Amino acid sequence: MKALVLAGGSGTRLRPITHTSAKQLVPVANKPVLFYGLESIAAAGITEVGMVVGDTQAEIEAAVGDGAAFGLQVTYLRQEAPLGLAHAVLIARDYLGDDDFVMYLGDNFIVGGITDIVRGFDSAARIMLTQVSDPRQFGVAELDADGRVVGLEEKPVVPKSDLALVGVYLFTSAIHEAVAELKPSWRGELEITDAIQWLIDRGRHVEASRITGYWKDTGNVDDMLEVNRLVLESLEPSHDVDAEIIGRVVIDPSAVVERSRIVGPVIIGPGARITDSYIGPFTSVGADCVVDRSEIEYSILLPRASIHGVGRIEASLIGHDVEVTPAPNTPRAHRLVLGDHSKVQISS
Ligand code: DAU
Repeated sequence: MKALVLAGGSGTRLRPITHTSAKQLVPVANKPVLFYGLESIAAAGITEVGMVVGDTQAEIEAAVGDGAAFGLQVTYLRQEAPLGLAHAVLIARDYLGDDDFVMYLGDNFIVGGITDIVRGFDSAARIMLTQVSDPRQFGVAELDADGRVVGLEEKPVVPKSDLALVGVYLFTSAIHEAVAELKPSWRGELEITDAIQWLIDRGRHVEASRITGYWKDTGNVDDMLEVNRLVLESLEPSHDVDAEIIGRVVIDPSAVVERSRIVGPVIIGPGARITDSYIGPFTSVGADCVVDRSEIEYSILLPRASIHGVGRIEASLIGHDVEVTPAPNTPRAHRLVLGDHSKVQISS
């Protein structure tokens, strides 16, 4: 079995953190979401990976390289434009040959990996479903009384169920026949949901299983903080610093922590400096961040963010290179330089 990992897309869909970078590289507990996918593909015993890339190819390639770090052989497949998930299968046709493959969407996070998902695959296709609160943002499955999939609909305005398609699919080479027949959808994309529906309509066996423990980057900060919390809870503590440290805390050896109190689960990345501060539970501090004379809890700081002398910050997502400092003079007005789509809550 091979893997087809989708890490393309235009790089222009605006979300808080993917404004300027590939959404597959959004960090969860200081590690790009794509890396968890690659690790679970390797753990499932798959080694050959076709990586579909678009505008952000350079960034993805810089992060993943030839895949050796994951025990994988990665072949990059350039998709000239994000013309749909089924289009990605179309351009990967030669790479995939007639092998079975798992298609993995690079911005999806599956708690517990995919080893159980790929085991014992012997139908035309296997899809994963999960309950979501807003199915309109997903592909949605309709099941009959026996739990068989009868219909799939991409981003329906009026969803027929709350069961969303998760971004992990297993296919035999039968999918190529379906993909070759597709016409673009109303949103101009070749939809993988339509290709699977094509198989169902022709009586091919499409299996559906339910999973729990699923996350994708929908641009929702609360969800992102929550998945960060979940992953931090399973950290193996490791640190060697002279500070007050409680619970699961991972501190990179190149980070500096002085006169501070850290209450885990917390991860502190390489080159970070924490001085005279409190870092509270469920916080990820990215590489080269600075936290000085401040308190922060249940938050994510992306690389090179710095926070100086501003009291307490909670439930926040702070982007790359952001600086947070107190207003220097009276009147102590808030002075803000915020990027597009930023959200700020200030206590008055
Ligand atoms: O995440 C699950 C959902 O993924 C499913 O419920 C939907 O049925 C499925 O269509 C898909 O929906 P999205 O609209 O969320 O997909 P998105 O455009 O975000 O693309 C998913 C991944 O595939 C992402 O890592 C970018 C990559 N991609 C996307 C397109 C459209 C490509 O590599 N090439 C493409 O042409």
